[in-house]
Amino acid sequence: MSFDPRYASIFPRTTDVRDGRLRIGGIEARELVRRFGSPLYVFDETELRAGIREYVEAFGSRYERADITYAAKAYLSRYFAAIARDEGIGMDVVSGGELAVALAAGFPAARCHFHGNNKSEEELREAVDAGIGRVIVDNFHELALLDRVARSRGVVQPIILRLSPGVDPHTHAKTTTGTLDSKFGFPIPTGAAEAALIEAQRLAGVELVGLHCHLGSPLFELEPYEEANRVMLEFAAAMRRKHGFDLREYSPGGGFAAQYLRDKPAPPVDAYAEAIVSSFKRRCAEYDLPLPRLFVEPGRSLVARAGVALYTVGARKEVEGLRTWVSVDGGMADNIRPALYDARYEAVVADRADDEPTETVTIAGKFCESGDVLVKDVRLPPTAPGDVIAMPSAGAYALTMASNYNMSLRPAVVAVKGGDARLIRRRETYADLMATEVWDEPAPVAGPQSSGAAPR
Ligand SMILES: Cc1ncc(COP(=O)(O)O)c(C=O)c1O
Repeated sequence: MSFDPRYASIFPRTTDVRDGRLRIGGIEARELVRRFGSPLYVFDETELRAGIREYVEAFGSRYERADITYAAKAYLSRYFAAIARDEGIGMDVVSGGELAVALAAGFPAARCHFHGNNKSEEELREAVDAGIGRVIVDNFHELALLDRVARSRGVVQPIILRLSPGVDPHTHAKTTTGTLDSKFGFPIPTGAAEAALIEAQRLAGVELVGLHCHLGSPLFELEPYEEANRVMLEFAAAMRRKHGFDLREYSPGGGFAAQYLRDKPAPPVDAYAEAIVSSFKRRCAEYDLPLPRLFVEPGRSLVARAGVALYTVGARKEVEGLRTWVSVDGGMADNIRPALYDARYEAVVADRADDEPTETVTIAGKFCESGDVLVKDVRLPPTAPGDVIAMPSAGAYALTMASNYNMSLRPAVVAVKGGDARLIRRRETYADLMATEVWDEPAPVAGPQSSGAAPR
């Protein structure tokens, strides 16, 4: 049997199989594990850059004032921030920490947008001082806070209001955001969005330049974006008539689906771009709005395919007639998505990538939770301890959601390109686990209990 061609769209495009051995960016997966240890996350630089360029081309070719603002929560490191910087896109950050990493890589603050439903005063101060491009204001508390921070710094901060348009995107409840019952944004239907717009126009420390919404993710359908454009742009037109509001910038958010499974393709980027740009232009014409700048915020779909997680097989447990468990050396601490959202992945035995699958197994993580399952019911050739398992489409929301659960060590990350592999994040150590602890054993206090005398 040869390598199943349906894997082509879920592994990085540089992936191939030679003599049954899986290679990413021209290097064998097993060799990567030998050099950098296991578990290991591998990012393919060619795929990362191709992912960015695909978005820039798809939206830019349809509308010249379209900008890609990558949602850093999907994956962020100084390495990737430098790539995004060089490719010329913008970045959407949601914390002082994400902003700090971007700035540390020389990413221009002016190309950053600051999101989040509970930014602290300190984070807002840091962002304003760094010269952040836009703050996406989420609620009245933040509006007042930011106005005060900006005025205290003697600046007028450009802002965009995040609205919740009340559009159901038909995705997992835990990743739905644009509906009325959401912690994010000013709802349009309740009148809160209009009140926020009036307030933002009144405040001296902020300059309202646009409107934003994000429906949720991943969205496999195009229609929710078209519907959001209708609701948002109709609202903008009403605000223009009533309050003289000038919509200069607009964003329908991100949430574009990534392909995780061989048989569940995501719509191509071109399909999203066509649906969003054409309905955006049509609605602007219909509501007589001058065409604003358009920001699009892909996260997962831009990085998922570029990342491959490599794990090593350990224990095996067969429950006759029920299930065969194959345990690996990672799991929910480095990728919580299966446990959190029932997310599904594929798996390939890296050194027998061509072999006929002969058994159905469940790949379990090593952490102390029954829910720590990485891939349920996957068909694999027989595995033995020491085999390397490759899990594709692992570039998004795995490492950025990773934890030290069970005092585990976060894995190393390598970047591959044209046959070279470079360590971009070392594996954590036990010293890292204790680096932030400041408690020390108190010195023994002299007295009867510490005298060493035998109790009577
Ligand atoms: C405001 C905003 N934009 C963009 C995204 C990116 O979503 P995705 O990674 O699914 O594209 C998110 C995800 O939570 C978000 O909250």
